[in-house]
Amino acid sequence: MKPVILDVDTGLDDACALLLAARHPELDLKAVTCVGGNVGIDDVVANTLTVLEAAGRADVPVARGAGLPLLQPMKAAPHVHGADGLGDLDWPRSTRTPVPGHAIELLRDVLRAAAASGELVTLIPLAPMTNIALLLRTYPDAAAGLREIVFMGGAAGIGNATASAEFNIWTDPEAAAITLTAAAELGIPVTMYGLDVFYDVVVSRERAQALSGSPAAELARKLIEKRSELYGDAGASIGDGGAVCAVIDPAGMTTQRFPLRVELAGSWSRGRTIVDTRDWTSDLNNDPHGQSTSIVDVVTTVDGGRYAELWL
Ligand code: BDR
Ligand code: CA
Repeated sequence: MKPVILDVDTGLDDACALLLAARHPELDLKAVTCVGGNVGIDDVVANTLTVLEAAGRADVPVARGAGLPLLQPMKAAPHVHGADGLGDLDWPRSTRTPVPGHAIELLRDVLRAAAASGELVTLIPLAPMTNIALLLRTYPDAAAGLREIVFMGGAAGIGNATASAEFNIWTDPEAAAITLTAAAELGIPVTMYGLDVFYDVVVSRERAQALSGSPAAELARKLIEKRSELYGDAGASIGDGGAVCAVIDPAGMTTQRFPLRVELAGSWSRGRTIVDTRDWTSDLNNDPHGQSTSIVDVVTTVDGGRYAELWL
């Protein structure tokens, strides 16, 4: 089994990712950490506990993390995920509480244990990277427990929050820049599952309607129905769930290795991920701030049908 941790801002599509990570027999979900993003941190924590309970995984530790981006105010997305972040579904809410302490303390503890045991963990951030930046700057030794980071965020092409920037990076650009710089310095392999493939794993309403027989299946059906309804489509992308598919089944995608930087200034381009697709090998030390440049495996294509079947 592959040990994984999810960092989430649950979120309808984070819920799709959580269900898959909690239920897939090849994944060992060690912990889930929460960050403000799609909705405020209180709703993120409540939604995350609720989804894990539906998945029959109340055993997975959940921790509350940063409620606000490092520098700028929060700009949540209730128009995409509903006022409560979980589509305002008619669904029983969990009464569980998160573990005591901050998310970075849970991450630190799980990763230090992983380093000691040699069973390294894949960290899957599906949200603004505030918690990850705080972790890597506060407890850099915890990186020894990481096998890799596979994050949903960014885009080589167009954005969604703005024409330039993808929502997770746009929400906390400084955190993304710190995470990428720290990953380069600490030698952590990074994969970017960005907007270029985010919408390509689609589950039709028809297929979703066949999901029944357990709370996890019922919730999965409701998530697809709600996302389809919000977008007015015949089906819905599982969004963040695709990044979990990528960890389970890397053969279902193609990647290319490029330097990746985050735009921190710019009047129209703040939060953009700049994927350097030039012949870059001679240009790595040209960062204007003297920071280390992260060389990232950028996901360029996914087999959407294959990943949709995997999720179903
Ligand atoms: C990302 O932003 C959020 O709306 C989704 O949960 C996903 O993580 C897509 O830009
Ligand atoms: Ca998300």
